[in-house]
Amino acid sequence: MEFMTAKEASAKWGISQRRVAVLCSENRIDGAEMLGKMWLIPKTATKPDDARSLRFQPIENLAAKPFIKWAGGKAQILEEIRRLYPSGLGTKITKYAEPFVGGGAVLFDILSKYELDEVYISDVNQELITTYTYIRDDAPMLIDVLMKMEQEYLPLSDDKRKAYYYEMRDKFNLLKSANDMSVDIAALFIFLNRTCFNGLYRVNGKGGFNVPMGSYKNPTICDESNLQAVSERLQNVSIVCGDYRESRSFIDKNTFAYFDPPYRPLSDTASFTSYARDGFDDKKQVELARYIKDLNRKGAHIVASNSDPKNTNESDNFFDELYNSLSIARISASRAINSVGAGRGRVSELLISNYGGVRA
Ligand SMILES: C[S@@+](CC[C@H](N)C(=O)[O-])C[C@H]1O[C@@H](n2cnc3c(N)ncnc32)[C@H](O)[C@@H]1O
Repeated sequence: MEFMTAKEASAKWGISQRRVAVLCSENRIDGAEMLGKMWLIPKTATKPDDARSLRFQPIENLAAKPFIKWAGGKAQILEEIRRLYPSGLGTKITKYAEPFVGGGAVLFDILSKYELDEVYISDVNQELITTYTYIRDDAPMLIDVLMKMEQEYLPLSDDKRKAYYYEMRDKFNLLKSANDMSVDIAALFIFLNRTCFNGLYRVNGKGGFNVPMGSYKNPTICDESNLQAVSERLQNVSIVCGDYRESRSFIDKNTFAYFDPPYRPLSDTASFTSYARDGFDDKKQVELARYIKDLNRKGAHIVASNSDPKNTNESDNFFDELYNSLSIARISASRAINSVGAGRGRVSELLISNYGGVRA
């Protein structure tokens, strides 16, 4: 029998070499054999008509949803934010910007509902932005790498899963410290997000990701159909790794911009908060408010969210004073509460806008 290599099969079938290897290891190709580290495939073999080939057909109608869990994710209060989408979005408002994109709950809602001419997203988290970029530009390759991780991880015993998790975490940190933003770091970013404790992203003083393993029994690591849907939605989106202020030249009077910065920590006093998650202290909240007011003068349609200091201190008017020229709505959200014995509870959050929106 004559054989071909995975490279030759990849060229013949129009799929990546990694995908050919995955199909071989799943016994989907009759007669494929491993020789050393190479797959040999009978020349007479035909490309398997597997679930993946169906998944890669156009799926215009499939809604895309966030591909990671993210601290401060907005899925919880999406309904409230939706009520503040400006009228005219998708017709006279043809551009959308989300400069603190994180997991992008609002982004994917908007991309699934409106036809827009231009969309801009950014975040300072380099690995997050690298992952968005790979999903947009090479989803099949990313899916292949991630699927291999899923297939390696899920069948393992608890102890072996633990060893695998920490090996992947080390690998991620090695690539991160070498600034190696290859497809592997994007796949590892999703793998760690799906398997770590609560989907947290936290780094130590040296920038190393240090979240321990989570305890999910059967995590979905490679949600192929959603990654493909996300990829389709991101095709014409500008994805920027950088500070929110880099959006200045993009945002104009035809733009709806949603700002979801790291929330101001709740405190019992009304004094300035100089320590905050992601280093986003009160000075930075003040700078952001100034930036939003500049964009307001340009005629952009703006919504911003933040925590409500009045949850813990009725006399803390920090945001009421900062955004006194804009409209502030207080909404109720279900959030994890950081105190002993507390689980989730309802807290008030702020939705600030420069047009008030039409609240249903
Ligand atoms: C509250 S989260 C956004 C959550 C997002 N709305 C969601 O649904 O997942 C804030 C994000 O801002 C990013 N960030 C922090 N400082 C930033 C800055 N100066 N410019 C842009 N992004 C920043 C963080 O990396 C984080 O992803």
